[in-house]
Amino acid sequence: MPEKIYTMSSKTEFASKLGLIAATVGSAVGLGNIWRFPAQTQEGGGSAFLLLYMACVFLLGIPAMLAEFSLGRGTKSDAISSFKVYTPKRPWWLVGYLGVVASLAIIAFYTVVEGWTLEYLYESITGNLFDGVGTTHKETFFTGKMAEYINTDSRLIIFVIVCVAVNALVLLGGVQKGIERLSNWLMPVLFVFLLILMCVSLSLPNAIEGVVYFLQPDFSKINAEVVFGALGQAFFSLSLGILCLVTYASYYPKDTKMPQVSMIVVLSSVLVAVMVGLVIFPAVKSFGLDSGSLEGATLVFVTLPDIFSRLPFPQLWAVLFFVLLAVAAITSCVSIAEVPIAVLQDHFKMSRTKAVLIVLIPMMFVSMVTALSFGSLSDLTFFGMTLFDIFDFVSANILLPFISLLVCIYVGWVLPKNFFKDEVSNHGMLRTPLGNISVCLVRYFVPFLTAIVLVYGLL
Ligand code: TRP
Repeated sequence: MPEKIYTMSSKTEFASKLGLIAATVGSAVGLGNIWRFPAQTQEGGGSAFLLLYMACVFLLGIPAMLAEFSLGRGTKSDAISSFKVYTPKRPWWLVGYLGVVASLAIIAFYTVVEGWTLEYLYESITGNLFDGVGTTHKETFFTGKMAEYINTDSRLIIFVIVCVAVNALVLLGGVQKGIERLSNWLMPVLFVFLLILMCVSLSLPNAIEGVVYFLQPDFSKINAEVVFGALGQAFFSLSLGILCLVTYASYYPKDTKMPQVSMIVVLSSVLVAVMVGLVIFPAVKSFGLDSGSLEGATLVFVTLPDIFSRLPFPQLWAVLFFVLLAVAAITSCVSIAEVPIAVLQDHFKMSRTKAVLIVLIPMMFVSMVTALSFGSLSDLTFFGMTLFDIFDFVSANILLPFISLLVCIYVGWVLPKNFFKDEVSNHGMLRTPLGNISVCLVRYFVPFLTAIVLVYGLL
């Protein structure tokens, strides 16, 4: 097939097929898979959660993803304009604004965890993370380290600034030279490092007990709350619901095979989550670390360093892991920030530089305040949740499913009848069973099921 030479519009596009896949996988695979997933799994009763998560990913995630892709590539527009192309007179663009609000809410807590990641990476490289590890009781040593790193206001603030600066550098580079190039280089690194860590963990004595805990389903643990959590986790880990994939797909060339891309993205995201489980749970069981109270959110920042410290060459494993986590965090965070940036650039006709700065500078201050949820603002709670927890809970569990539901209704019912089918099949050029099935799923199944889970979850 001849390479496409001309594009119809001057709209930015990803430079290569591989780059587009790397960028989209980079968006999906993030802190959600590596930090949030084990935490949720731990709280949702291990394997039962995994099972529900997979069901949500395949039954709801793929069609919802194809709906976002179609809307983005079909209109070649940002999160807000994409709702104005076919229905300029109707208020559907409000969904776009809701997506922007959700993206800002995610940035507000995502950058905090990204900041910790960079801090832990720095401390692993300098070796400070393991300084004095032999001198006190191991069980409390890394909790103490985390307290030192995370509960100190000044450090929290410094690393939020560092993290925002890193994101700004990538985003200022633009779609091709920033996002795409970074993902091309870093995503393979992430997979290789994860594979190495998984082999190490699985080779520990009694690792198999952890594998069983993680993979053997226990249906008695399933209840409405676990289902609700699994749905939020599925949407979060697939980057659904803030129109991030609408934005990325607006940079897809018209001949992109979207069903294929969606399969690759979904499988990579699930694969990374499972691999992370196979790093953490076997090691936890092997060293008998599951006797005390394992708190989900600290698995990655307390339990893993503890595990590394019990292996030969602790610093090596820690550096590998936190590089991996940093890569995952950065390639995802830029995709979240790209939503409001693209809106400012395309809808409000700003320059890229101005758009990046207008989004990131105010968000840096918001993130600093969120970060203090672990420092001097830890007592500030609403309904028992800190600011950080609220941003996480409201965005992942409520806004993402709600917006995805609206997008599916819009794409399935409001847009011209054949819009979705034409986009998914590249106007009949692709024969894909996924296309036909998804039409049905997007119109009926996804909105219906998502609505039920949302209503039950909120009751
Ligand atoms: N999927 C990413 C993760 O798992 C986070 C993310 C990136 C995201 N873009 C998104 C979440 C859009 C929701 C919506 O870490």
